[in-house]
Amino acid sequence: MSRSAPLVPAESAPFRLPRLAAVRVLLVCALTACGGGGGVDGTPGGTGVRDPYFPKAGNGGYDVAHYALDLSYTPGSRRLTGTATLTARATRDLSALSLDLKGLDVGRVTVDGREARWNRAGQELTVRPADDLGEGRTFRVTVRYSGVPETITDPDGSAEGWLPTADGALALGEPTGSMAWFPGNHHPSDKASYDISVTVPRGLRAVSNGEPRGETSARGRTTFRWRAAEPMASYAATVAIGDFAVRRTTTGEGLPVYVAVDPRQAAAARAVLARIPDVVEWAEDLFGPYPFSSTGAIVDRAGDAGYALETRDRPFFPGAPGPRLLVHELAHQWYGNSVTPRTWRDTWLNEGFATYAEWLWEEDHGGDTAQEIFDALYAAPGDRIWAFPPARPAGAAHLFDPPVYQRGAMVLHRIRQAVGDDAFRALLRGWAAEHRHGNADTGDFTAYVEKSAPGEDFGAIWEEWLYGEGRPKLP
Ligand code: TRP
Ligand code: ZN
Repeated sequence: MSRSAPLVPAESAPFRLPRLAAVRVLLVCALTACGGGGGVDGTPGGTGVRDPYFPKAGNGGYDVAHYALDLSYTPGSRRLTGTATLTARATRDLSALSLDLKGLDVGRVTVDGREARWNRAGQELTVRPADDLGEGRTFRVTVRYSGVPETITDPDGSAEGWLPTADGALALGEPTGSMAWFPGNHHPSDKASYDISVTVPRGLRAVSNGEPRGETSARGRTTFRWRAAEPMASYAATVAIGDFAVRRTTTGEGLPVYVAVDPRQAAAARAVLARIPDVVEWAEDLFGPYPFSSTGAIVDRAGDAGYALETRDRPFFPGAPGPRLLVHELAHQWYGNSVTPRTWRDTWLNEGFATYAEWLWEEDHGGDTAQEIFDALYAAPGDRIWAFPPARPAGAAHLFDPPVYQRGAMVLHRIRQAVGDDAFRALLRGWAAEHRHGNADTGDFTAYVEKSAPGEDFGAIWEEWLYGEGRPKLP
């Protein structure tokens, strides 16, 4: 599945000199011709997976199954110390593999416990194991690193990556910010399970994805452990460090709800967060079973980030959200976090669905119907939503523009008009079920819709609404 770009340019760059132990191993190998991993003749895995919008994101040649991240952070100095252990499988014979990591200093890299050579070029950390890794082989890469993590400005000007906040820090990773706080295969096509532990000064709290696995204090610091067991794209990973009031409840069906709120937001957020169980149950009714083992929210101060994000299990909000934004981010747990885009070109599969979820919520709760919202958007003056087709965003700076959200939702509404309410409901559930915990692209989606409504002709909807330039004509 992961194709590689041509040879790593890093090949010609000088590798950092290995430490003594590794030198000895290499020398012995040179003398006895034991290199090449017992006959494996690998080539570098390559940098980037040819994403149409972020060609350097992700890497070829391996597939990560699990990340164990042990982090320690001190807000005063903004210093992060981390050990990342990736368990991965080689998808072909590998002499080297690349990870994405932006900024930070790398201290030591091992592969299966043995010192590995490595070098860095831009966002690529290229690791050369002592022995080549044969196709199919499962291996562990451990990277020790530290430094002051970067806040990344993404192509649309938004801040992501590692964001220092008034009382701690916040990691937001869509689309490419996660490489600012841990090395990995930072492309949505390679999902993995995560164990994240974060050590912070005592009195602060660290919240992450999945379920809490305990906290321990020693020498004035507290370690918080989290586990996200189902596959997660790295952009949906988060850590929020700060002063948080925590509330643990369950939905009526027993799904754990873990909510962390900055105390200054607690009063404003109380009523909307109390609706999480209702929203999840409403969404389950429409989209099918909740895909993960817990839910919740993280509410930080309004100035801490410029946008909300559907961080896995526990969406992030800068200040108390309204119900519609809560619905949007929770809908992403199905559409985005469980069914994940294969490339960044397929972002409308996230945002169109999450936006349509808002319309359905309005419709079901005494607001405008989806048809009324569609009609109002269609008739609205201006051409912001017609700037480009949802399935072909006009560059990386436009991935989160109105055509992806509103026009993406309009595509879904056109399908609903074509197939009727019952079939459309079945389709929403079926799409989430078909690609649960997987990846899908726009072609998968149109094929799925066509398969589920045989005899119906969707050609005009795809051509005009999904792929067509400008404002489509209504029939
Ligand atoms: N995906 C987020 C949402 O709709 C929004 C988002 C992520 C975003 N990165 C962004 C919005 C950058 C604006 C700019 O929930
Ligand atoms: Zn969204």
